[in-house]
Amino acid sequence: MEKVTVDLADLRREYRMQPLRRSDLNSDPLLQFNRWFEEASHAESMDANAMSIATVAANGQPTVRTVLLKYYDQEGFVFYTNLESNKAKDLDGNPRASLLFYWSELHRQVIINGNASRISAAENVRYFMRRPRDSQLGAWVSRQSHVISSRAVLEQKFSEMKQKFARGEVPLPSFWGGYRICPTSIEFWQGRENRLHDRFRYSCANDDDWNIERLAP
Ligand SMILES: Cc1cc2nc3c(=O)[nH]c(=O)nc-3n(C[C@H](O)[C@H](O)[C@H](O)COP(=O)(O)O)c2cc1C
Repeated sequence: MEKVTVDLADLRREYRMQPLRRSDLNSDPLLQFNRWFEEASHAESMDANAMSIATVAANGQPTVRTVLLKYYDQEGFVFYTNLESNKAKDLDGNPRASLLFYWSELHRQVIINGNASRISAAENVRYFMRRPRDSQLGAWVSRQSHVISSRAVLEQKFSEMKQKFARGEVPLPSFWGGYRICPTSIEFWQGRENRLHDRFRYSCANDDDWNIERLAP
């Protein structure tokens, strides 16, 4: 059998961006995130809102995958998904999640730990109605995370749904919706030279009060 060994030890780059200083930080981590997100939206060629979300299953197995952040506010960070997917099962059993953004152009990483909850049906409908029609149909087609026999099954189901909902609005599937991750801690990481990176962690003390600590890189 063919074997592959790839040594990436010499694949390295220096991170020479501007520092992140304690005095630069907004006392509200959401406003700090907002500032970094706006900068990432300009700097990244694609998908500044792509984030990894780690969840943990009942048997203790963690899984991480990418989803798209759809909005954020003082209540938390919202993404949409199939409510019968593996990630949804994980979150329904254990609502703790970890989100990670890596903005490579800026040498920045943000890690958000927090508690997940399903968002309201009204909010789901509001967002679903703003999706392009084919994405709405796509939500009906896929039993996300389930094993399927072929791609043809998906394409067949897509045609069926197109016919079924040929007239009028595509309704919101009962098995599709959003989760909001309400943060308990948010860490901002700025790459610096010689691996002496800047890291600041906001931890929720109570309600709107956040402690800010510098962490060793
Ligand atoms: C760039 C990118 C964006 C994605 N956005 C979403 C998303 O917003 N919602 C979603 O359910 N899956 C999204 N996916 C697919 C997920 O990574 C994953 O394959 C899917 O949700 C099934 O995950 P699960 O089986 O662990 O539940 C995205 C994948 C990529 C690469």
